[in-house]
Amino acid sequence: MKKIIIYVLVFALVTLVVLQLFPGTKPETTLDNPNDIHKEVLIAPEVSKILRKACYDCHSNETVYPWYGNIAPVSWLVYHDVEEGREELNFSEWIPYSLKKKNHKLEEIAEEVEEGKMPLPIYVSIHPEADLTREERELLINWAKNLKGSAEE
Ligand code: HEC
Repeated sequence: MKKIIIYVLVFALVTLVVLQLFPGTKPETTLDNPNDIHKEVLIAPEVSKILRKACYDCHSNETVYPWYGNIAPVSWLVYHDVEEGREELNFSEWIPYSLKKKNHKLEEIAEEVEEGKMPLPIYVSIHPEADLTREERELLINWAKNLKGSAEE
């Protein structure tokens, strides 16, 4: 019985080591983003703080990867979320979006946050600072709604 446990553990360890040969494609991080939303609109510091701590890892080019985020198979999930998140909404590439797209994204932001779909629950479970309070959610929702309203005038 003991032998079997050792075999299983060794097998698991070898598998984990072999998986490291296939980390997946890591979306690059860059801090130099001239098209960032902050360069177009003045965002109140308390709102900016929420965006950066709860959204920017997946919705900007400024992703900060935790060490375990680079270890397969976790990296597959993390890289995939970052890639898909940026594709859907990238605050670092905001300025070139059309007015229509900006307004649509702002509406989606209010909706997703209101419904508790964003930030992604799996992210919140390992990033407690992204577990937004009711006040933080309201701040973010009102910001998105107001910005949308101001752009429509
Ligand atoms: C762990 C990564 C991650 C974090 C953190 C995250 N998102 Fe997302 N977000 C995604 C992914 C992946 C998608 C696309 C798939 C989906 O909709 O579930 C998405 C989709 C969205 C969409 C939908 C865009 C559209 O046009 O349909 C909005 C809006 C959004 N996120 C806003 C936010 C906001 C606001 C925050 C912070 C409060 C946030 N997200 C945090 C990964 C993330």
